Formats: sequence, structure tokens, C-alpha cells
Amino acid sequence: MKRTFLYTPGPTQVPEDALLEMARPIIHHRTPQFEAIFADTLKKLKWLFQTQNDVLILASSGTGAMEGSVVNFLSKGDKAIVVNAGKFGERWGEICRAYGVEVIELKIEWGKAVKVEDVKAALDANPDVKAVYITASETSTGVAHPIKEVAALVKERENTIIVVDAITALGAFNVPTDEWGLDVVVSGSQKALMLPPGLGVVSISEKAWKLAETSTLPKFYFNFKKERKNHLKNTTAYTAAVTLVIGLNKTLSMMQEDGLETVFARTEKMAHACREAVQAIGLKLLAPTCPSPSVTSVFLPESVDGGKLVKLMRDTYGVGMAGGQDDLKGRIIRISHMGYVGEWDLYIALTAVEKALNQLGHVTPIGKAVGVAAAIMGA
Ligand SMILES: Cc1ncc(COP(=O)(O)O)c(C=O)c1O
Repeated sequence: MKRTFLYTPGPTQVPEDALLEMARPIIHHRTPQFEAIFADTLKKLKWLFQTQNDVLILASSGTGAMEGSVVNFLSKGDKAIVVNAGKFGERWGEICRAYGVEVIELKIEWGKAVKVEDVKAALDANPDVKAVYITASETSTGVAHPIKEVAALVKERENTIIVVDAITALGAFNVPTDEWGLDVVVSGSQKALMLPPGLGVVSISEKAWKLAETSTLPKFYFNFKKERKNHLKNTTAYTAAVTLVIGLNKTLSMMQEDGLETVFARTEKMAHACREAVQAIGLKLLAPTCPSPSVTSVFLPESVDGGKLVKLMRDTYGVGMAGGQDDLKGRIIRISHMGYVGEWDLYIALTAVEKALNQLGHVTPIGKAVGVAAAIMGA
């Protein structure tokens, strides 16, 4: 018997109260009973997105909602600016190209955020761009891009929308949809929404719906107009992910009990404590200047094989964290502090890192990182 802990930047831990809700007997999706839950969940989601725009709930992982956010707004040959500073920004480009969209890619070194002036220059050079695709929290690097500033540039342009991947941002830190004028915002269940994987959620502004009128890319399952019609009747075009929607209703209630400010402050405080703690034991941050509050990416000492470290923590200690992707494979670890985690989780994660470093031959005092984190978290 072994207790396990999950600090990967998705999936994240699911609160016991949500697990219990989801353990109830399944109900049919075309019933007044489910429709009432669906309506209530949509209302709560709008609160989380901080929007009056339409919000859709899709039975898919986050990438499905991303794909839908390309095929529903664009047409073949349209131009889109894509901010690519990691695995998930790269994915926007891959989806666009798969559908014949012309991609103007702003490629950024991993660990850095896009410069607002570079987006402006790309927009100025390409006034016919239909959409800017960007990532609020680039999970592969732990970078937060300047969404507010980029959105302000796009807002001025009548025929261009901004589409934000907020998959590890929504519910973790402040990305206010209406205040910043975000046209399309995408997220997924297995991150700060504190659920198992399987739901994609997306908010859509009137400006984006207008663009949708002209979109000719092929779409069937991810047909947002069709979903909107159904959502207006508190149902979905196809079978809803009933259990996950019920779970979402619960986790949203939990967030509402705390309030958005409290949730964001908690995440930010843990992120700050985590960053200071790992630096106190001599580790370097991948994104020191523009860190996402959701996930901290930490370089390992060169003598330590990151793959072995992640495996040791997972298989021996029961503590799950993510390693690096592509060029960063084996060189970094990524620690999540979004969703259902508290300061004690942070101490477990940090202790696991310290112990594993020692076990793999990198001598470091056990408890130093935790001490720094605990001092920051306060009494
Ligand atoms: C920022 C970001 N975008 C997109 C995705 C892809 O989401 P999914 O794996 O749910 O399809 C992830 C998943 O880790 C992510 O973190």
C-alpha cells in the first residue's frame, strides 16, 4: 500500500468532494435533471471566465477545443499569427497548418515570453490577419505571456480576433475575458478545474461569432454554432460527458466558496514559495522573468538525469512531477501548483526533489528548500 501525490501540470489532483459527486449513479443526458445541472454549470463557468460571452462545454481534451477554435473561425488560406514559445504554442501552428491556414509564426526561445512589440510589428505587417493564437500559460516551459497587452493590440483591429489557450491559466490566475477583450478562450478539465481529463471549455465573443459566419473550414463534431444552439437549450449536440459535467459543477462551487481572488492569491503564493525554494538549493529557473503561477520549471544539475529523477520520485516515493519535453527532456522538472493543492503539497514536492537529488548523487541538504518555502507561506 502506498499513498501517491500528483504534482504534474495536468492531470492534477481531484478533490474528494468532486470524486464523490462523480461516483453517483449515471443519469441520462436528455433529462430535466441533467439539463438543470448543465445550466447551472454554464452559469458558474461564465463566472470563472469572467465573461458575459457564450461558453461551450465539449467532450474532448483541451486540444479538441483548440482545434474547434481554428476550424470555426477561419477559412482555407486565411492568415493567423501564432505565438510559439513551447510545445503548446507550437500546437496552435500545427492545427492551423493542418487546415491550410497560413501561419505567421513568432518563434520564441523556450523559457521566454513574447515581446508585445513583436506582435504589434507582425500585426502591422499583416493587416489581413484574421486571428492571433497565443498561450496564457505555456505549460512546457512555465512561461506566462502578456495576454492583456496583446489583447489590447488586437481589440483595435476590427477584423482580427485573439484566441487564448488558457488551459493552465483558467482558474489558476487572473485572465479576465471581458475586461481584457479576449475573443476566444480555451481550457480543459484536468488542470486548475481539478477534474479528470475529458472536458474542453471555450468562451466566444460576438466579434468571434461574426467571424464564424464567414468560416468555411470543415467541421463536424466541433461545430460551435451547432453547440451554441444546443447549449441555449441547456443540452449538447452529442452525448454530454455527464459525469465530468457533474464534477465540474462541484469544483466550480468549491472555487465560488473561496472566491476568485483567494484562489489566485493561493496559487501565486505557492508559485512564489516554490521558485524561491528551488533557487535556495542552487537550482535555476527556466523562466525567471515571466513565470506562470501554475507551473514552475526548474533546471536540474547537469550531473542529474531528469528522466531518472522523475521516475524515482514517481515509482519509489509516489510523487508525480513532469520532466521536460523536446530539447529540455531530462534537463528540467515541472512542478504544478494549480488547483487542489495547498502548502503541504508544496512541502511534499520539494522534499521529494531534495531526496531524489541526493539519491542520484547530487548532495544537497534535506529540508533547506522546504524551510524557505515554509517561511514564505507564513504562520
Ligand atoms: C497550455 C496547454 N495547452 C494545450 C494542452 C493540451 O491539452 P490536452 O492534453 O488536454 O489536449 C495542454 C496540456 O497539457 C496545455 O497545458
